[in-house]
Amino acid sequence: MLQETPKTTYLSDYRPPEYLIDQVDLRFYLDEAEARVHSVLSMQRNPAAENAGQSLRLQGEQLELLFITLNGDELKADAYTLDEEGVTIHQVPERFTLESSVRIKPQENTALEGLYQSGSMFCTQCEAEGFRKITWFLDRPDVMSRFTTTIVADRERYPILLSNGNLIDQELLEDGRHKVTWEDPFAKPAYLFALVAGDLRFIEDRFTTASGRDVDLRIYVESENIDKCDHAMESLKNSMAWDEQQYGREYDLDIFMIVAVNDFNMGAMENKGLNIFNSKYVLARPDTATDRDFQSIEGVIGHEYFHNWTGNRITCRDWFQLSLKEGLTVFRDQEFSAGMGSRGVKRIEDVRLLRAHQFAEDAGPMAHPIRPDSYIEINNFYTLTVYEKGAEVVRMQHNLLGAETYRKAMDLYFQRHDGQAVTTDDFVRCMADASGIDLAQFKRWYTQAGTPELQITGEYDATARSFTLTVQQSCPPTPGQDEKSPLHIPLAMGLLDQRGDDLPLRLEGEAEPVSESRILSLHRETERFTFIDIPEAPVPSLLRGFSAPVKLRYDYSDSELMFLMARDNDGFNRWDAAQTLMQRIILKRVANPGAPLPDGFVDAVRSALTDSVSDKALLVEVLTLPAESYLGDQMAQVDVVGIHTAREGFKSQLAAALRSDLMAVYEANREQGAYQPDPLSIGRRSLRNLCLSYLMQQDDAEVCQLCIDQYNAGHNMTDVMAAVSLLADRSGTESEQVLIGFQQRWKDDPLVLDKWFTVQAISKRPDALEQVKRLMKHPDFSITNPNKVRALVGAFCSANVIHFHAADGEGYAFLADRVLELDAINPQVAARMLRIMSRWRRYDPSRQSLMKHQFQRIIEHDGISKDLFEIASKSLEG
Ligand code: TRP
Ligand code: ZN
Repeated sequence: MLQETPKTTYLSDYRPPEYLIDQVDLRFYLDEAEARVHSVLSMQRNPAAENAGQSLRLQGEQLELLFITLNGDELKADAYTLDEEGVTIHQVPERFTLESSVRIKPQENTALEGLYQSGSMFCTQCEAEGFRKITWFLDRPDVMSRFTTTIVADRERYPILLSNGNLIDQELLEDGRHKVTWEDPFAKPAYLFALVAGDLRFIEDRFTTASGRDVDLRIYVESENIDKCDHAMESLKNSMAWDEQQYGREYDLDIFMIVAVNDFNMGAMENKGLNIFNSKYVLARPDTATDRDFQSIEGVIGHEYFHNWTGNRITCRDWFQLSLKEGLTVFRDQEFSAGMGSRGVKRIEDVRLLRAHQFAEDAGPMAHPIRPDSYIEINNFYTLTVYEKGAEVVRMQHNLLGAETYRKAMDLYFQRHDGQAVTTDDFVRCMADASGIDLAQFKRWYTQAGTPELQITGEYDATARSFTLTVQQSCPPTPGQDEKSPLHIPLAMGLLDQRGDDLPLRLEGEAEPVSESRILSLHRETERFTFIDIPEAPVPSLLRGFSAPVKLRYDYSDSELMFLMARDNDGFNRWDAAQTLMQRIILKRVANPGAPLPDGFVDAVRSALTDSVSDKALLVEVLTLPAESYLGDQMAQVDVVGIHTAREGFKSQLAAALRSDLMAVYEANREQGAYQPDPLSIGRRSLRNLCLSYLMQQDDAEVCQLCIDQYNAGHNMTDVMAAVSLLADRSGTESEQVLIGFQQRWKDDPLVLDKWFTVQAISKRPDALEQVKRLMKHPDFSITNPNKVRALVGAFCSANVIHFHAADGEGYAFLADRVLELDAINPQVAARMLRIMSRWRRYDPSRQSLMKHQFQRIIEHDGISKDLFEIASKSLEG
């Protein structure tokens, strides 16, 4: 915990390691009160490091020294210096063996980093810098070692003992304990180390790789969850097949294991051969998990599996390169999910997330490039920018190279760098070398923060039959980066004629039209493109498929937007036109509550809704209103109440105008037969539930009964939750009965209870905050469990915009209280919670000062973690 101002780590200070660890032999003795870790490190001076000193510095935190020897000789007290962050051994030879033993307390580890207890099991989380809480080490990703791990524990309590690699030895000891040894043949950085011990069950399957090797697949869970693993196993096999087909990458060990744990800081972790997952991303049964849960399980299983090549075999040189593995692996998991489900809908969902949260991050006090230059606490840089914008930057390279050349470039990347710890520069060099494309300017995407803006105008010249697009790019300043340089931006576009057909696109100077949809490359601040042989004034369709992570400004009329919404050949842009139009309507009504709907708008929505051929999941995306938080981002100053009122009013108005159509679509899409999580069934359910949510906008007893009936029918968790969340917005005995019944039914299933906490946390009821405070005292709530904290506190503060931002500041005080309470338990989770308030400068003066006060309170609080210090201090500065 913090005493003095924590120090900043800079990329420019990177130096290769002075020492290397070739081999690691670990021995864990786990018992009820403590654990002992015995370590033997075979080390040598790094031949590649210039001026390596004679002394050796190892990281280590919260370790109690039992003994330490160098080449077999016990180190005298004056031969080394111990401090809070590690040990310095004053004199070491060229090659040596360092042996040590430490005592640690996994039972007291509430930070969930290093070795900790979750329920009755032990598990580890070492990324980014958790291994140093297990034993002394060169805890940095460019030190790659071969690990052998022996675990000794009571056989009754911990029948399952797992670590990375292959099981090589198993032995029963006389005292009721047993001992197993795992060996990982691949050198890896310490952050990929993992250990699990517990009384677990597993399901098992097999995968035969393209070259004919059999791989044993196992998913380990607590016994009560053994019937919730099938979907995860299917997803794993699909991931393995996909990586072979799309990237030519086979799995490389004889066994692949996944373990589900209930207490976990993030989603999941790609430890070599032994992935550890938040149980939320493993466990699913139709009656316990929603369609969205099924989809995110598939995505996260894919993500962690794909890390085996993009992250593990080729890892990061240092933590500034995090996007090397995360951006690339997110791009891979996005494409995997797109291939498994509806590609168009997946793209929309990803862009919605990026715009709602990454754009906000990029415009706030914590804005940073996908390859940051400095950090105080690396855990604070597992961000939407590094992950999601990082994925967009890989996607742009994929699009610039084309699928075939991109694949060649990836082959080159694997061939050149397998077994190495590399940088994002190394990655881009492979893209450039394999394609011959000059990516020098493109590389600014890695170093420049902020969301670029494209201001585009179009001019039709009837006599010359030409259409000219003028594109100006700019990027607002971000903390520490006042001046921005122009980026290389791929702008996919087309020109539509009056019927909505794409016109052939021929630029001035070209002999023939190239094609009907093309990618323009922007390099300079202002670019002009003149298309010739254009017979009529076209409607431009710009940034098709969201070809770059930028904000687009083009002065479309309402009727042009309605035209694009109905006719654009690019599905993404049809959706985007609808969103732009709805955003425009809502924002207009913030200023002028009586503003009428554009002519023809209700009819356009009706015809979309009742068009029986359209893709249902896509239709749901079209009819889903932009989130309040995203609407707020479009205003110079966020008007919390104005946006809420205008958005709710608009939704009610549509519901009233379309009531009978919504009813008919609801009826036509009733559940038939057994639950299936396939794209068509998901689309049907989600359309039906969207209709229900519109219908529930009105106080209508018939609809309310429909909602209760849907709850009682209990076909599957998707339909049940849709009904429960709508009922939870209301007060009254009926909805209270439903909530009580739901809790009774699911009191033994923590993941389902998380959903119960969340619907109450985001309720529109006026007493939502009181309700949240009451629920914090509920016996099923636990402040030490990150899923519970996110389900209740996180959901209220980030998704219940109107109540969190209540004018009296009670929401802000509540968040700050929880953050301080959490910081003493789990700094990673505390720091993440506080980020919710980081853009306090976007609000009115009164709310600003209320939020600022809470930040000051936090920063002045004694002994806060450096995680929290970084967020609070940067939020106040930025
Ligand atoms: N590497 C993990 C992933 O994205 C992220 C992760 C899991 C993580 N647990 C963590 C990052 C704890 C920081 C701290 O797949
Ligand atoms: Zn990842």
